[in-house]
Amino acid sequence: MDNIDWSNLSFCYIKTDCNVRCNYRNGKWGELETHTSEEINLHMAATGLHYGQQAFEGLKAFKGKDGKIRIFRVVDNARRMHESAEGILMAQVPEELFIEAVIKAIKLNERFVPPYESGASLYIRPVLFGSGPRIGVAPAEEYLFIVFVMPVGPYFKAGFKPTNMLIARKYDRAAPHGTGNMKVGGNYAAGMRAGEEAHKNGYSAVLFLDSKEKKYIDECGPANFFGIKNNTYVTPQSTSILPSITNKSLIQLAEDMGMKTERRPIPLEELDTFEEAGACGTAAVISPIAKIDDLEVGKEYVFSKNGEPGPISLKLYNKLRAIQYGDEPDTHGWVTILE
Ligand SMILES: Cc1ncc(COP(=O)(O)O)c(C=O)c1O
Repeated sequence: MDNIDWSNLSFCYIKTDCNVRCNYRNGKWGELETHTSEEINLHMAATGLHYGQQAFEGLKAFKGKDGKIRIFRVVDNARRMHESAEGILMAQVPEELFIEAVIKAIKLNERFVPPYESGASLYIRPVLFGSGPRIGVAPAEEYLFIVFVMPVGPYFKAGFKPTNMLIARKYDRAAPHGTGNMKVGGNYAAGMRAGEEAHKNGYSAVLFLDSKEKKYIDECGPANFFGIKNNTYVTPQSTSILPSITNKSLIQLAEDMGMKTERRPIPLEELDTFEEAGACGTAAVISPIAKIDDLEVGKEYVFSKNGEPGPISLKLYNKLRAIQYGDEPDTHGWVTILE
């Protein structure tokens, strides 16, 4: 893996030099360990395998023009994993331990951080799961926390272009008071069939509606939804969506630009009124939406007729990327620079 073609990376697993692990046993976290193996030796009755006691995170580190490595909002990911663990009764990884493990995993794999010019980045995947055995449904007594990293390509190789999305009416991703607001594997399993069906039919992602009434917009596959109209950034309020760190950042940047922002339930019909719409998340920052199809009711919502993103989406996208790569000042304290 010494000849990485930085400009042709995609979002795929790549082996790097090592991963960092920590075990929770006898009521406490142990020391951080470094492993070169990609494999784990796991008890066959681990609750992570049987009862879905599992949570993960996804964040990125970027190399700037100055050669420095910047991690984006690692504290927020640490907090979100803490909340996910709390939600499904797993041992919580202390914030400092999470950050230390992320920094260690990046440093040990520094040669895999893509150069500034490539537009690529280092994707960081922390994962936590019940490793202790249980055959009755109950939380495990032992947990394993692992952080591994890999270089990933820029999401938009062919440029920042809008794509089509499909409303998923046949499937629910999460229940109103279920685990939709946590980053736990079960949500992704529940949404996988909807996502694959949409991909097979040429859509980039699904748009889930609220599962109780099917009246409001929830989120887009693995990203939050936002719409823009009348100089206002609008994003759904829902108990069953993941609190996206990218979305939170875009809300702040929109306010910095003098826009109004609203986090509230968005009725489906309101889609007709947005001038721009997009999905936002760590992977792409923003995926502008060209059109949303609601096949079951024979309706389509069009946001981009010329195949180009809207001007506000483009401005927000450029601004956030500039902060991540260190091209613009980090006025909100989002970036951790590796020493
Ligand atoms: C279901 C879901 N919603 C939203 C997001 C976006 O969250 P973030 O901006 O923190 O990456 C993700 C992850 O990327 C996700 O998996």
